[in-house]
This record gives sequence, structure tokens and C-alpha cells, in this order.
Amino acid sequence: MIKSPRGTRDLLPPDTALWNFVEATVRDVFRAYNFHEIRTPIFESTELFARGVGEETDIVSKEMFTWEDRGRAESDKGQSLTLRPENTAGVVRAYIEHKLWDRGLNKLFYIGPQFRRERPQKGRFRQFYQIGAEVIGPATAGSQSPARDAELLELLAALLDRVGVTNWTLELNSVGDLADRAKFNDALRQALAPVVANMCSDCQRRAVTNPLRVFDCKVPADQPMIETLPTITEFLSDQSRAHYEEVKNILNAVQVPFIENPRLVRGLDYYQKTAFEFTHGALGAQNAILGGGRYDGLSEALGGPPAPGIGFAIGEDRLVLSLAVSAESVIRKPDVYIAPLGIGMNRDAARIARELRRHPLVVELGDESFRLKKSFETADKIGARYILIVGENEVAADAFALKHLASGEQVTVPRADLVQHISQPK
Ligand code: HAM
Repeated sequence: MIKSPRGTRDLLPPDTALWNFVEATVRDVFRAYNFHEIRTPIFESTELFARGVGEETDIVSKEMFTWEDRGRAESDKGQSLTLRPENTAGVVRAYIEHKLWDRGLNKLFYIGPQFRRERPQKGRFRQFYQIGAEVIGPATAGSQSPARDAELLELLAALLDRVGVTNWTLELNSVGDLADRAKFNDALRQALAPVVANMCSDCQRRAVTNPLRVFDCKVPADQPMIETLPTITEFLSDQSRAHYEEVKNILNAVQVPFIENPRLVRGLDYYQKTAFEFTHGALGAQNAILGGGRYDGLSEALGGPPAPGIGFAIGEDRLVLSLAVSAESVIRKPDVYIAPLGIGMNRDAARIARELRRHPLVVELGDESFRLKKSFETADKIGARYILIVGENEVAADAFALKHLASGEQVTVPRADLVQHISQPK
């Protein structure tokens, strides 16, 4: 038997109803904050992620699905391509490619699959889905303002509320600007020098190339060492500190609760200043429901103009796992099951179904070969509210037997009144 590849899965009904509920709700929220959708390719040139996300990150160094293009055109041959492990680099690439700075502040959102070659476990997949947003534009459009950071975090609190995720924790930190980070990296190198020989091989490499990444280490034996390392907070410049303070002040003003976590550095290299994660207790080890932060230098790193930006990505798989509502409660069951009774009735039944569906009622259409008993069983099984009988006598009278399945109440309804009758809540 051929199965779906490791770390991928089929999303089936009724669960897909939950996914649709989440996506429809977040689209509503994005609309209220004046965000617009962007769709970028599912694969990009490998270089985009190497330069954007960072060579030394786990994502780029271990987890990407990369291949060499064997395209027909000479120009394609040998180009290294990668399934996108995240969408921020793609959005910033599109910002540069289409000169989106001409529009001032861009508020963009996306919903779609991402790919990382991780070890699958609860809440961790190789194909997973993100709902993300990016606010990017020239500084003159206000994109560097701490007001944007706070607005995005408040949007997230509102969004989680709207989909019904409660008990989340917002963990907040500032990872400083490039100069702060250079000082911090120096201090980390110094602190690591005497102990790094006892740490894992990844940490030994990171200590030289990119010491900040030591905080990504999951090896249990290394954790006591990591806990003694200095935190970025001591190395923030006055400007970075003021930015961070203002984000916190606005969050307090709009009553979005948060905790500060000075060890939160995020697993991607492009962050500057604000960094955050929302965690949820029900998720177990993979408890980050979403993550994000500010990436002021990313456009320049990718060859574009200065364009401060901030964004987040929600793990949609994890969001769905932490929902309090069930798939059954959001799925829309059929309003009516139409039972054509007797040979030759399919045509009239199809005509009535077409009328009702335009209104729009949810209609399931039976087949004239079914006996009455089988029709009732089918209507029951699919959870229809009504069953509508289309037999010769009904067609001749242009009035139809309509039975409410829960109460057993049956009435004869003229064709012209069917929509009104079925639409009434009962
Ligand atoms: P990230 O923290 O790598 O950030 O991913 C964001 C979220 O995606 C995570 O918090 C998690 O919920 C979900 N996620 C990540 N990997 C997996 C996986 N293997 N299986 C299931 N869910 C997963 C980013 O991707 C950044 N691009 C976020 C961002 C946007 N920063 C600025 N703008």
C-alpha cells in the first residue's frame, strides 16, 4: 500500500471544516486591520533562504528540501531550488522584485504550506501550514515604529480570541539591532570559550560562526551551560531599549498580557529588536503556536532598499490542535435530503435541488432507484434536517411532502414556499 510520505498527512472531513472555519475567521480579522493577501511560489531559489533565514540556522543547515533543477532551458540547469521552509523571505523577495515600496506601507498576509525536514512528532510535520502576516515598507511610511509591533501583537490576541483559543501566553523579548547583537555575540564567544569543548558538536561550531544560535540547542546535557550565558538585555542600546519599552507600554494600554523572556532569540537569523512567541499549554513539547518579530535589515540583505518590517507566522496545524470547538460543531449539515421516489423522478428532483441550492440551502440529492426506507436511512446518516419526497403525485400537485427528521413532523408544502419553509430555524 502506498502511504503519504513521513511527516505529511491528508486533512479529511470533518476536520477540514475546522481548517476552513479558522481560515475564514482569520481572513475577517485581517480585513479589519486592512491586510491584503499575497501568494508567493511554494519553491524559491535556495539562495533566498540561505541569505534570508541564515546559513547557520537549523532550518537552512538541516531541514530544507532542496534539489537541482534539470529544467529544459540552459539557464535553468543546475539552479538550486528549495521548497519554502517559511514565507517571510519569499514575501520580502516579492517586495523587492515588484518595488512594493511605491505603495508605502504594505500589510500582507498569507495562508499556505511550508516544508521542513524535521523529525515528525505531535504538532510537528514535514509539510505544515502557516497563517502569516508581514508589515513592510520604507521608514517614511512608519514601518519602523513600535506602534506597528504592538498593533501586530494586539491583532494576534484578537485573532486567537476570535477563533476561540484561550490560555495562550505571549512571550516577548528584544534581540537588539545589529550593533547590539555584535556586542552580545562577542560576550557569548567569551563566555563559551572555557566550556564549549564539553558541549555538542553543533554548539562547538555555532560558538565560532554564530554564537546566538547556541540558544537553539536542544541537547539536554548542554542546557545547564546555556543557562549560565549572559542575556541580550544587558547589551541593548538606548534606542533598542526605548523601542522595546514603547511596545510594552502600548500593549499595557490595550491590555494585551505578556511575559518577558530574555532568552527568547527565535530560530531564524533575520530578527532585530522585537521577537515574540505565543505558547499554549495543550500542545505539549511543540508548544509554540506562533512566532515572529521585527526584521529591519532583511530587505537590504536580499539586495533591496532599507525597508523595516515585522511579521509573524501561526502554525495552523497547532492552532487547530488547540481549538476548543469540535469539527462537528462548525460543519454545516445538509438542510434537506431530496428523495426522488420512483423511476423517472430524477429530473424533477434535480430541478428542485437546483432551485433550493441557489438560495443557498445545503442540499443532498438522492437517486430514484432508492426505496423510501433507504432514503430515510441516508437522510439520517448525513444529518439532514428535512427529507423532501419527490414522487409522481407530488410533481402533479406541485406540492411536496416535507418531513422534519428530528420531530417527525410532516407537512405538504407548495413548491413556491419550499425555500421559506426549509430556511426557517427549527
Ligand atoms: P517559525 O517560528 O519558524 O517562524 O515558525 C512559526 C510557527 O510555525 C511556529 O511557531 C510553529 O507553530 C509553526 N511550525 C514551524 N515548524 C513547524 C513544523 N515542522 N510543524 C508544524 N508547525 C510548525 C517563521 O516561520 C517566521 N517566518 C515567522 C515570521 C514571520 N517572522 C516574521 N514574519
